[in-house]
Order: sequence, then structure tokens, then C-alpha cells
Amino acid sequence: MKIITSDSKLACSAHAADIILNEIKRNKKAVLGLATGSTVEDLYDCLIKKTKSDGVDWSGIRSFNLDEYVGLKEDEYNQSYRYFMDSKLFDHININKANTNFPIKVNDKAEANQSFANYDEAIKNAGGIDIQVLGIGNNGHIAFNEPGSSIDSLTRCVQLTPSTIKANSRFFASEDDVPKLAISMGLRSILNSKKIILLAFGENKREALNHLINAKSFDPNWPCTCLHNHSDLIVITDLK
Ligand code: F6R
Repeated sequence: MKIITSDSKLACSAHAADIILNEIKRNKKAVLGLATGSTVEDLYDCLIKKTKSDGVDWSGIRSFNLDEYVGLKEDEYNQSYRYFMDSKLFDHININKANTNFPIKVNDKAEANQSFANYDEAIKNAGGIDIQVLGIGNNGHIAFNEPGSSIDSLTRCVQLTPSTIKANSRFFASEDDVPKLAISMGLRSILNSKKIILLAFGENKREALNHLINAKSFDPNWPCTCLHNHSDLIVITDLK
């Protein structure tokens, strides 16, 4: 595990963006695993700016997002992770949207059941994830692998914990409006990635990050600890 500490979220995000863009320049068909949430907003801003200034070509890049809510109402489309990715990144670069994948299509539960069953297979068929970007939940979740998740979990339907629902309610009208279910890549799906960049910003993440940094083995109470012996994990944080 490599830990990079910087004073600001922006400096950390710029560093992560450089790692990703170097991979894209080296491998025009790179496969990226992408996260949503406030942690990655500056990263996506940096990627857009540097893509424009350096003329980076995303046309051959494939992406797989970590997760998507289940059960959003039609007027809540703008809370979907598809909407987040389109508006914060994909609409501003020349990625082919046909190459951007989510474990389900929002508001389409029939299709949902079919598509998430094949998600890990689709990642494998794409050659595996070259760089996986992760945030971390206050409770140590990565993607929506909540405490108690199995280290061998693959993409599946998961129930969000009360603490995650509370944390994510800041984006919804009320806590009641936060979906209770999501489709999430599993811990094994994530561990299969060749390189992982985990970003952690702010005091709320300190406890979870400490569990990962000090982990000697996997502790299901802190799902992030599954990463402790990944062969190429970079933690980038403003926590000292
Ligand atoms: C989002 C995801 C989540 C978030 C985590 C942190 O795709 O998988 O695990 O990374 O909940 O969320 P923020 O960044 O909003 O603090």
C-alpha cells in the first residue's frame, strides 16, 4: 500500500488525475472502474481540465461504475449515478457512452436483474479493470459493500445501512427518499482490479481509513480492510 498525503483535496485529486491520464495515454483502451460521490468531484474536474489542456483522447476508453441505486422515482433521475457521471465527467470528454457501463439502468428493474448478473463477466471480457477509483464510506464501505460483506462478493443487490442512508440523504429531499437498495460491485470484483486508487478526504473518513491502514487481515466490520494486501493500492488523502 502506498499512501500519499497532500494538504488539500484539490492537490490530492490532481495527483489522482495524473495517474489516470498517464494510463490513458499509455493504453488507449484502458478500462477504468469509477466511483461517484463528493469525494470524486474534484478528481473529475481535474480530469476534464487536464484532458482539454493535454488533448487526451478517451474514445477507446471503457468504464465500469461501481454501483447504482435501485428504486429511484422517475423525477429522481438526477440522483442516479448515471446522471452524476454524465454531468460531472462523461459529457465533457470524448468517451463513447456506449462504452460506459453501470450495474443497472435506472428505472428499469426488469433489465436490472439481467444486467447485474453479467457485470463481473463483462468486466472480465473487457480485460479486467486497469485502474479502479474508490471513495470510502464513514463506516468503511467501498462501493456499497456495507459491514458484513463477504470478501468473495461479486456484483449483487445490496441493502444500504441506516448510516449510509443518513450520509447520502444530503443529496435527497429527506432521509425517507434515499433508496434502500443498490446494485454494487462486490469486494472480490474490486480486488480483481489491477491498480486501485482510494481517495479519502475529511475527518469523517479518519476512522475508516485508519482501519484500512492498520489492517493485518480482512475485518468484515470494516469492508475497506479487504484492500490491505492488494498488490497495487494507492491511498491519496488529506488526512495526516
Ligand atoms: C459511490 C460509492 C461509495 C462512495 C462513498 C463515499 O460510487 O461507491 O462507496 O465512494 O460512499 O461517498 P462520498 O464521496 O460522497 O463521501
